[in-house]
Amino acid sequence: MSSAEKNLQKVALVTGASAGIGAQIALQLANNGITVIGMARRTELIENLNKEVTGLGKIHARHCDLSSEESITAAFQYVNETFPPLTILVCNAGMLKANFISESTGKDIKDLFDLNVVATSICLREGLKLMRTNKSKGHIIVMNSILGHRIPEVPVPLFSVYPATKHALTALCQTVRQEIHFLKLNIKLTSISPGMVDTDFLSVYSRAVAELPKLQASDVAKAVMYALETPDYVQVEEIILQAMRRFDI
Ligand SMILES: NC(=O)c1ccc[n+]([C@@H]2O[C@H](COP(=O)([O-])OP(=O)(O)OC[C@H]3O[C@@H](n4cnc5c(N)ncnc54)[C@H](OP(=O)(O)O)[C@@H]3O)[C@@H](O)[C@H]2O)c1
Repeated sequence: MSSAEKNLQKVALVTGASAGIGAQIALQLANNGITVIGMARRTELIENLNKEVTGLGKIHARHCDLSSEESITAAFQYVNETFPPLTILVCNAGMLKANFISESTGKDIKDLFDLNVVATSICLREGLKLMRTNKSKGHIIVMNSILGHRIPEVPVPLFSVYPATKHALTALCQTVRQEIHFLKLNIKLTSISPGMVDTDFLSVYSRAVAELPKLQASDVAKAVMYALETPDYVQVEEIILQAMRRFDI
């Protein structure tokens, strides 16, 4: 079977598919023939995204508020009942609140960990359960960040706990990979760690980052496609990518 034919049988769930990087990932997956279920609160944006698909796949919208465990488990149950079996899970949704830790509220700190770490962990659990039950050849993508690996010196350090949440994802990916191996599952796990990407996400910094080089969301989606298209025996564990300064020489 050609890889194009195999893609027609694949089902991908993408969290945070209504905007930015998740929307581009959903589009590129569907343009490659994959059936995509995009999850977010703004489902109307995902429905509109489906109109942009030029390939053989389709993007279905499913409402999910990742701050609620019930909402997450209901969404995974819906995917399993409506489009089985799940073969690709993209844990992409995340948030940033620019602030000093010394000035952050407890709610802001908790919201960041709840979405970036707790919701991602619950999605990983639900995805692993489905792939394990269905004995799927699966692939899980976790949207990490370069700040999940190293923290640059910047003039005004308004990172708050965001890098701590992304460092948690780095640990989580390594732990889950060990668990997958222990349980003898045919599931790959790839962590994608971009530097700055030109999406609404950075609007919290607006002027401070305006002049800095940035990736496009489609560049990150292409990195995801690269990891997904490797042969069965190749696992891309980590991709770190960032925009490069261009010099006149
Ligand atoms: N942009 C960057 O510079 C950059 C760099 C490195 C890593 N990243 C990572 O890349 C990922 C995507 O970032 P982005 O730039 O594409 O951000 P974005 O444009 O702000 O999009 C965030 C997405 O997450 C969803 N989301 C947020 N809270 C949610 C909730 N409670 N329930 C369900 N969905 C929720 C949003 O959907 P709704 O609002 O419709 O629910 C939206 O689709 C994040 O994990 C981020 O940490 C971004």
